[in-house]
Amino acid sequence: MRITPSILNADFARLGDEIARIPSADAIHVDVMDYHFVPNMTFGLPMVEALRAATTTMLDIHLMIAEPDRWALSYAEAGAESVTFHAEAAKAPVRLARELRAKGARAGLALNPGTAIDHYAGMLGEVDMILLMTVEPGFGGQSFLDLVLPKIRAARQFVSESGLDIWIQVDGGVSAATIERCADAGADTFVAGSAVYRADDPDAMVNRLRDLAVAACHH
Ligand code: DX5
Ligand code: ZN
Repeated sequence: MRITPSILNADFARLGDEIARIPSADAIHVDVMDYHFVPNMTFGLPMVEALRAATTTMLDIHLMIAEPDRWALSYAEAGAESVTFHAEAAKAPVRLARELRAKGARAGLALNPGTAIDHYAGMLGEVDMILLMTVEPGFGGQSFLDLVLPKIRAARQFVSESGLDIWIQVDGGVSAATIERCADAGADTFVAGSAVYRADDPDAMVNRLRDLAVAACHH
């Protein structure tokens, strides 16, 4: 059970300090947005390079960008341990996943709430993580979409049958109120943005979320 807090709701003027506030995080989830794939803009490669220099914690890059085939590899080259691109945006997802792995990064495949997983079942052996969006991507602080729970169960089924060690990450509206549903459905890696950074003690919230997920996990 891994908690990978998103810095989307952190104070962008002092990101180094914000990361240092959550030493219990298993990875730092970095939401890269480009105003094209999603109607919001955050930061790109220079910021990820600066974060790489500022922390030894695993960097979990979530690319919400229109042309991942063109830009994803540079994030692996910058030293990010995990790079996730969207199925809806990638033109050649198998090739891109292989290129990321060849650079030494974990490859992640993200699916929006309305994207079915069945279509991608055949290529799961090419990736190290499936990211299931539990909100429409673009903004932090949105409400968790319960309609994604059956897809989490389906993903767990595919992964179990494959026998592969593929992480199942959920992203969007994950909090102390919703994490148990996700863990029970089969998720093992949890992004939490506003739940962590709006908590009085962000690091205590990271540990609380992990405890809740462990207790609710039956897979
Ligand atoms: C949304 C991002 C998420 C976001 C989650 O498009 O991909 O990572 O930061 O924020 P919360 O946890 O507040 O929904
Ligand atoms: Zn994200």
